[in-house]
Amino acid sequence: MTAAQLTIDPHFVTGRIQRRLFGGFVEHLGRHVYDGIYEPGHETADAEGFRQDVIDLVRELGVTTIRYPGGNFVSGFRWEDSVGPREQRPRRLDLAWHSTETNEVGLHEFSSWLDKVGSDLMLAVNLGTRGTLEALDLLEYANIPGGTALSEQRRANGKDEPFAIEMWCLGNEMDGPWQLGHRSADDYGKLASQTAKGMRQLDPDVKLVVCGSSAADMPTFGEWERVVLHHTYDDVDYISCHAYYEEKGGDIDSFLASAVDMDRFIDTVIATADHVGAVRHSSKKIDISFDEWNVWYIDRYHGVDKVQGIDNWPVAPRLLEDVYSVVDAVVFGNLMISLLKHADRVTSASLAQLVNVIAPIMTEPGGPAWRQTTFFPFSITSRLAQGESLELKLDSPTYQTARFGEVPLVDAVATHDAENGRSAVFLVNRSTTESITVTIDVAGLGDVSVLETHTLTDADVYAANTLENQERVTVTPNETVALADGTLTVTLPPVSWSALSLG
Ligand code: AHR
Repeated sequence: MTAAQLTIDPHFVTGRIQRRLFGGFVEHLGRHVYDGIYEPGHETADAEGFRQDVIDLVRELGVTTIRYPGGNFVSGFRWEDSVGPREQRPRRLDLAWHSTETNEVGLHEFSSWLDKVGSDLMLAVNLGTRGTLEALDLLEYANIPGGTALSEQRRANGKDEPFAIEMWCLGNEMDGPWQLGHRSADDYGKLASQTAKGMRQLDPDVKLVVCGSSAADMPTFGEWERVVLHHTYDDVDYISCHAYYEEKGGDIDSFLASAVDMDRFIDTVIATADHVGAVRHSSKKIDISFDEWNVWYIDRYHGVDKVQGIDNWPVAPRLLEDVYSVVDAVVFGNLMISLLKHADRVTSASLAQLVNVIAPIMTEPGGPAWRQTTFFPFSITSRLAQGESLELKLDSPTYQTARFGEVPLVDAVATHDAENGRSAVFLVNRSTTESITVTIDVAGLGDVSVLETHTLTDADVYAANTLENQERVTVTPNETVALADGTLTVTLPPVSWSALSLG
């Protein structure tokens, strides 16, 4: 049996955990909105056509701020299409996903759904095929109380009070050649700065996210951030990061170390942002909005689930319906550990996505809704990670990976909430063969006891929850946990994610 050591001390604070770290993302893509959250004919549908079984699962998941309506979708989106009387809303081609958008669900309906699931809205404006004026129009429609053309239009459309949306994304993945309206860092930086200045003139309280790189391996990565922030440093609050991971070519060892890559990605973007701040002699710090992250088998499905043909624009086709395994959930839980380890600068994040589309929640039309394996690390981390993220002293054996070099077998983060005295530790064992016993010095936490233990693992690391077998994989209590004289020990099975709560 291999061993690792960890020391938790509540004095060593990384940063306060913002609830926005547990955000989600709903894009008009595939069966996410239609036949996902919205299915008027479903037996659980409420008066507005939203599935109650999905609402219940989203609440259980514990997502905070939800980014909407895209994604690549937003770069071809005319927001005006999605408000006003439904029967007058146009059907439009969605070029990003080669689908038909009916606009049956728009800003008002989505906002009402958010009230039901208890989440806040983070709205993206289209800076791909549209510009500053349309962004300002949308902000006026959403946030001005009344007395102007667009705010009165909102009121006439049934929303008397403003939506009061605080978080706004200035476009989506503008560095990506696949993006409608993709442009250079220089061109985008100027447009984003102009749009941000106008938005702040209209509503000084908005928080603005400028597009960073859509992946750390983009050829423009690093330079993109530097140039974009050079233009927008004084105008925005966040720069975005996006990252998706998958097991490639059967290299499970590298896949299990994906969070190492996420750690490096975050550290590099922070360094770049701070460099721009230094050059500008600015005391302001730019935070990271990691507003797309997940496991996504882009390579496995590449070209297979793409819709094509000039006469083929389906409504809500099955797209990006990845089925997640145990190993996917372990990597996923580790990505959450990475976000928490950077809680001082990553103060907003969005799991991409929520229902049916690379999602922790799956549904069948006219059928059930169920939890994928990734549901568990998200719901448990969102619930237990409260207060402040702590810097850990972690001593772990290492292993060699083809993609990321020598990396620790164990990764972990701890949180502590001084208000209620509760702490939590989240751990992964990346070994595919060895159990690892971790000895944790918790003396600094005082006289605590173990409140909850959860471990996600399985003899078959590719086991998954499916329509036919919806509860094949779940979390179970970790019976190995022992606490005596300020020392906690836990054995982590191979390829496992665990959470322990103390209080
Ligand atoms: O989440 C799926 C897609 O991934 C989003 O639309 C896009 O922003 C990213 O490339």
